[in-house]
Amino acid sequence: DAASQKDLRSPICAILGHVDTGKTKLLDNMRKTNVQEGEAGGITQQIGATYFPIDMIEKKCETMRAYTDPQFNVPGLLIIDTPGHESFTNLRTRGSSLCNIAILVVDMHHGLEQQTLESIRLLKDGKTPFVVALNKVDRIFGWEPVPNSNIRDALAKQSQSVQAQFNSRLEATKLLFAEQGFNSEVYYKNKNMSKVVSIVPTSAVTGEGVPDLLYLLLELTQTRMSKQLMYLSELEATILEVKVVEGLGTTIDVVLSNGILHEGDRIVLCGSNGPIATTVRALLTPQPARELRIKSAYIRHKEVKAALGVKISAPDLEHAIAGSRLLVVGPDDDEEDLKDDVMDDMSGLLDSVDKSGEGVCVQASTLGSLEALLDFLKQMKIPVMSIGLGPVHKRDVMRCSTMLERKRELALMLCFDVKVDKDAELYANDNGIKIFQADIIYHLFDEFEKYQKEMLE
Ligand code: GTP
Ligand code: MG
Ligand code: NA
Repeated sequence: DAASQKDLRSPICAILGHVDTGKTKLLDNMRKTNVQEGEAGGITQQIGATYFPIDMIEKKCETMRAYTDPQFNVPGLLIIDTPGHESFTNLRTRGSSLCNIAILVVDMHHGLEQQTLESIRLLKDGKTPFVVALNKVDRIFGWEPVPNSNIRDALAKQSQSVQAQFNSRLEATKLLFAEQGFNSEVYYKNKNMSKVVSIVPTSAVTGEGVPDLLYLLLELTQTRMSKQLMYLSELEATILEVKVVEGLGTTIDVVLSNGILHEGDRIVLCGSNGPIATTVRALLTPQPARELRIKSAYIRHKEVKAALGVKISAPDLEHAIAGSRLLVVGPDDDEEDLKDDVMDDMSGLLDSVDKSGEGVCVQASTLGSLEALLDFLKQMKIPVMSIGLGPVHKRDVMRCSTMLERKRELALMLCFDVKVDKDAELYANDNGIKIFQADIIYHLFDEFEKYQKEMLE
């Protein structure tokens, strides 16, 4: 009935897979945007979020009507983009833990690569249903583009040689999945969606198969997600990013997985100087079908319903930590209790800090990238003396300089995706503290490893 229909929430889908399989490009195709080409090094280094209202999805699935009569009951679909680079296991873990269903993107010309296998493990562990986008069909030699067509019509228009190449790639892929313990089948021949993984051949560049992919996601979430999961209930929200926006000050980008957020809500979140309790000043979203992580003209809302990505403007967000949960103080809640709950998220990270007080200093833009850096240093067996989030100031370098007398070789800082201010840089130069800085995480790793090797020689 009408009342319950209104209470349905939008499902969340994460896109996972090895680096450069075409995850962001697929989203660009759905959005008609160019986010991928604007990325540093052409790689994704943050979790993204894009909300598609249901009428937009219906339009994109128009070409499916030749084969089926799609029914859409949910208000929309939130798609989470994740990085495929090996350094961002933590962000893939976060993305997959946030979602109800996933798209595993496989480059049909490369098979199952390292981070695709890792993603499969994450999906298995989380018992998350997924479909496979077998991407880059347009790279088959001789492929004639049929832009934005459903995949069956597009395949029917190809030469025999293209069809033969396609079939052999498809069969090879099915074998690879079998090796991983999964039966799989191209989705329109799949008679048992709950046991057999569906494969959707796609091109993110010419758009074939993208309507099929959207159709299938909606079909599966509506028929296979339990009713429970489909309804709006208790608030669940995770901070993806902390960003300074001109005119708004420090804001947080949040994935609202369940529940309703209102302007004026009292919220509690994790801060680098302790828990933060503040009041929502504004709830902002990008236009429909636009990436939350890209700056745009925001729409302001009195309330927002799950699932979607929302930018929150509020006082005192300067020290908010990406990756932490966001809680809302309800009428029966004790704000102090919620502060304790939320700070438990940080304790894991602080465990990586060496108790002896000896080690290097690490500074990053998000909790997620900080985790990645700490994992890396652990593997390298390099102790960490302190961790920090956000820009590097002189006081951070001064803290690091205490190592000069204790263990000179550890008097260094690893800084990912953060600014180092002038005073900090001058102080470091004058005192012989080495600062490693990069906005591509594996460049930072490479540079640091090279330095370590040179030191040993
Ligand atoms: P990460 O986020 O870094 O893990 O990569 P990604 O999976 O998001 O891949 P991305 O969208 O960055 O695409 C990688 C490269 O492959 C880009 O040069 C794209 O233009 C290209 N590409 C992606 N999908 C397709 C496709 O379907 N066909 C063709 N021909 N090229 C594609
Ligand atoms: Mg990407
Ligand atoms: Na890429």
